[in-house]
Amino acid sequence: MAAAAAGASSAPAASLDGVILRALESADIADSRCWADEQGVSHDDVEREMNSLESEGYITKTLNQTLFWELTPAGEEAVAQGSPELVILKALPAEEAAAQADVKAKVGDDVFKGGLGIAKKNGWVEIEKGTGNIVRKADPAAVEDKTASLLKGLSDALDAKTLKELKRRKLIAQGKRTAWTLGKGASYAVERRRTAADLTAAMLADGSWRDTTFKPYNFDAEGTVPACGVEHTLLKVRTEFRRVLFEMGFAEMPTSRFVESCFWNFDALFQPQSHPARDAHDTFFVSKPGVARHVPEDYCERVKTVHQTGGYGSRGYGTVWERSEADKLILRTHTTAVSSRMLYELANQEGGFTPKKYFSIDRVFRNETLDATHLAEFHQVEGVVADYGLGLADLIGTIRDFFRRIGITNLRFKPAYNPYTEPSMEVFGYHPDLKCWTEIGNSGIFRPEMLAPMGLPEGVRVIAWGLSLERPTMIKYRYSNIRDLFGHKVQVAASKSTPIVRF
Ligand code: PHE
Repeated sequence: MAAAAAGASSAPAASLDGVILRALESADIADSRCWADEQGVSHDDVEREMNSLESEGYITKTLNQTLFWELTPAGEEAVAQGSPELVILKALPAEEAAAQADVKAKVGDDVFKGGLGIAKKNGWVEIEKGTGNIVRKADPAAVEDKTASLLKGLSDALDAKTLKELKRRKLIAQGKRTAWTLGKGASYAVERRRTAADLTAAMLADGSWRDTTFKPYNFDAEGTVPACGVEHTLLKVRTEFRRVLFEMGFAEMPTSRFVESCFWNFDALFQPQSHPARDAHDTFFVSKPGVARHVPEDYCERVKTVHQTGGYGSRGYGTVWERSEADKLILRTHTTAVSSRMLYELANQEGGFTPKKYFSIDRVFRNETLDATHLAEFHQVEGVVADYGLGLADLIGTIRDFFRRIGITNLRFKPAYNPYTEPSMEVFGYHPDLKCWTEIGNSGIFRPEMLAPMGLPEGVRVIAWGLSLERPTMIKYRYSNIRDLFGHKVQVAASKSTPIVRF
């Protein structure tokens, strides 16, 4: 019932278009505002109806705009109470000078500021030298309040200089009146044919769709922005990288382990215990719990031997290898820690080794000094291919293939060093917008010292590469500061406005 009552109260607005059409039958509506007043309806309602009638060609409308002067609240006050200069004059005692502060307190700041100069110019007051006090020089009952009379008779007929002065004093302001002249349009009719916005099941059932006029499509209408969550900009790129890697036949590695042991992060990768990356300056150590619970003992023994004395054709590092170092827990510094676990599992899976292509995209942590291009946590994209007889050409070919699929074709490879790969290559890509070569990845063939202790069969070679997720994202979306992309300063709105990626 309540809804029906509400509908009834807005009934005049609902048929307003009909009233407009009927009015136009005999003559144009010269001024929509005057007409709205005559009809006792709001001009907003008239505007809405006339826009809709115009869009369907029933009527034409022409804009009439006029500028006019109107009193500001201060101007109205001046008409009612007298101009600021008169108010000041009235506030002054007849006999003695008054302190400026007292007068100001009495009349208010605005009146005081707006009226004192004029009162002085009119010769109504004087400012006492030395004290700055105000002295009354005229009888408020005898003076003529010119300003108030001008405001009372405000019209466009006043000369431009006077109007400008009143405007300067903020007593008047310019207003704008907008109204429309309405006439018959090309498709004018007294009765409006209702157009339907939707084709309904009922129309189909009773056949009424045949005689229904449908609203034309409005291709200029803006769609509503759906209120939904969005993928973070980095995740948009990750989604696309995953698609590309799945397409290339890679399987995803489980990367949920942010806390990792030094064993899998460093030792299994034949990274010496004296390596500077294992320092607290570069790595976040976990204190509670501080040590790993489990590493495969026999494998750990082989790792120890290869570090200390070598094996598999290697001389090792010839240094003491401490289990306590390997057991320390850290936040993983690279996703290669995930690869080392996976390769160990691959070597020891039931049925023995089978060739595999793995990838992972997830977070890593380094104890970095933060700046525009460095964060203490970032993301790595890692790829590993394990098969018999792979070589450098396979590595270069796989990397080329991956980057070609993400739109980077101009690549260079530069010899590099990693403790776990030999040979190692840094990958540089030519950035067509920045017109320079940028490092986009690191890669290599895993050393026998790393693979053989895991139990991978002889002849199996593992090629691998890693790159940051942030760098290509920054290039793709033209971010110059990494902190705008990831971290607590990121604007959610920015994620909403970045488009999805298709490489
Ligand atoms: N782990 C290396 C890094 O963090 C990347 C890499 C992965 C290099 C695999 C070679 C092989 O930069």
